[in-house]
Amino acid sequence: MHFIVPENIDKYADDHSSPLPPVLEELKDYTYANIRGAGMISDKLVGGLLQTLIFATGARHVLELGLFTGFSALMMAHALPEDGTVTSCDIDPEAERRARRFFDKTPHGKKISVRIGPALETLEGLTGPYDLIFIDADKVNYPDYYERCLELLAANGVMVVDNVLWSGRVLDPQSDDDKAIAALNKRVAADPRVHNVLLTIRDGLNVIRRR
Ligand SMILES: C[S@@+](CC[C@H](N)C(=O)[O-])C[C@H]1O[C@@H](n2cnc3c(N)ncnc32)[C@H](O)[C@@H]1O
Repeated sequence: MHFIVPENIDKYADDHSSPLPPVLEELKDYTYANIRGAGMISDKLVGGLLQTLIFATGARHVLELGLFTGFSALMMAHALPEDGTVTSCDIDPEAERRARRFFDKTPHGKKISVRIGPALETLEGLTGPYDLIFIDADKVNYPDYYERCLELLAANGVMVVDNVLWSGRVLDPQSDDDKAIAALNKRVAADPRVHNVLLTIRDGLNVIRRR
């Protein structure tokens, strides 16, 4: 992933943000050492912002699209109250086995349940409402994820979409992924149902709430 802000500035921001809980540091190290595509991990800055949104809004029920090795799910679980829940969707059955090894190391892991399958199909069976929704799965489906997730979002909920700058490729979209992300950004900014702010943190985060 090509960072939007210079890598040394991103590192400075990371170094000057609160440290990760040890289990998340361990999960991050495991991911970078063992998993192809480790750069997909949302990491401390995005995870820390998700935690702050959870604290600030008093969120209790979280939906995530894109579990991967479980980093963002476990970050959010750490910020949730005892009775909070994270429902995380991924298409890869291995993702659950991998993540569960780390979830089992902390009491917060019990808050996380995983749904395996194509996220669009999983979303059909969910009823919500969710207080925070984090979209971080395959990019080509982003516009469809947005529409369905808006239906599942609680009245005062917040939706966060990752990778919305897509290493800058949204400026000149070529591939299907580029086009899907650019189309979503355009749709959200013009959508009278929501208010959004597109942040230039890491690969770009769109923070969306209902009007
Ligand atoms: C960017 S990673 C998620 C990163 C994770 N949120 C984190 O911070 O560590 C994207 C994940 O989406 C999953 N994925 C890809 N296509 C999917 C689909 N159609 N439905 C559900 N998950 C999908 C991949 O298996 C991958 O684990």
